[in-house]
Amino acid sequence: MATQRLGIIMNGVTGRMGLNQHLVRSIVAIRKQGGVALSNGDRVMPDPILVGRNAEKVAALAKQYGIERSTSDLDAALKNPDDTVFFDAATTQMRCDLLTKAINAGKHVYCEKPISDSLDKALAVAKLAKQKGIKHGVVQDKLFLPGLRKIQLLKESGFFGKILSVRGEFGYWVFEGDWGQPAQRPSWNYRAADGGGIILDMLCHWRYVLDNLFGNVKAVSCLGATHIPSRVDEQGKTYNADVDDAAYATFELEGGVIAQINSSWVTRVKRDDLVTFHVDGTHGSAVAGLTRCYTQHRVNTPRPVWNPDEPQTMKFQDQWEEMPRQHGLRQRLQGAVGRFHPPPDRRHAVEIRFA
Ligand SMILES: NC(=O)c1ccc[n+]([C@@H]2O[C@H](COP(=O)([O-])OP(=O)(O)OC[C@H]3O[C@@H](n4cnc5c(N)ncnc54)[C@H](O)[C@@H]3O)[C@@H](O)[C@H]2O)c1
Repeated sequence: MATQRLGIIMNGVTGRMGLNQHLVRSIVAIRKQGGVALSNGDRVMPDPILVGRNAEKVAALAKQYGIERSTSDLDAALKNPDDTVFFDAATTQMRCDLLTKAINAGKHVYCEKPISDSLDKALAVAKLAKQKGIKHGVVQDKLFLPGLRKIQLLKESGFFGKILSVRGEFGYWVFEGDWGQPAQRPSWNYRAADGGGIILDMLCHWRYVLDNLFGNVKAVSCLGATHIPSRVDEQGKTYNADVDDAAYATFELEGGVIAQINSSWVTRVKRDDLVTFHVDGTHGSAVAGLTRCYTQHRVNTPRPVWNPDEPQTMKFQDQWEEMPRQHGLRQRLQGAVGRFHPPPDRRHAVEIRFA
């Protein structure tokens, strides 16, 4: 049994996503468990070098998480032939240029979404990656949510019959910052010049969720709205929020499924989770949140009668059955996340998708 070292140049690890999801919950966790087991019994052990603008800050982070290497010199890091993967979770605006630089330096690349704020740039970097023959991947994390894995299981088991439609509701109230609670998202999310906007942030997720679970997206119509045009930033300064903070989208999928997904940072939640997907099929329906999933088969479908003269007597929420926890899901996910070369049926989960 051998241990293979995998040198990863990690950029943007001081940010929300870079630190919590990618450094702490992925790389540090994988290192703690002794690496990722390969099918031949070998293990892959990630050996990251943390990169950031502020040398002291990344050095402190590295120390805190038991990582030996950090630097503020990205160019020098890219020159090290022993580090074969470049990862980026920093600002959206810079991603495409950084990926281009890393690909030209011969690195494999993996990154947060979106890969760019413009289609032309995204296509150019994807083509470059293909041309250079490197491995390339972008986060498609929502596919691995237990709630959506359960939807996948229902689909594979034939539970839905023919899937007719999907309705997604994503969002919650993001405080404006000028009263009560401080805003719980970074202010750049609400500025066009900084790569903000909910369409840029969320529609890339919906694209791969729909493509992979319900059918390739053939057409999309999306109305973006800026409901709250002024917000207060981290320094207490009022700024113009000049991007969409809500998006109302309808998708037509191959196979005839119609999907509607609302994404909003200006909505108050009265549903089971911050995102829910309601799937209607001829034989059954299901509603999934991040982890839970409820089903209603055709034989259990009630027969409500429209009668505005009487208060509703049916408790619709009680007419659904919760799916049990899926054993084996954790192991399957660890396998999927750990492999740089996923098996063909998961390949979609790590390839850069064209918009
Ligand atoms: N997969 C998901 O569900 C998900 C969720 C949130 C954000 N994201 C993506 O992750 C990325 C980061 O988002 P975040 O919420 O962590 O943001 P953040 O503001 O918390 O972090 C941004 C990071 O970029 C760095 N940075 C900012 N400006 C820079 C500059 N000029 N030069 C060098 N570094 C710079 C910061 O130091 C920090 O490390 C974005 O592209 C965003 O779209 C993905």
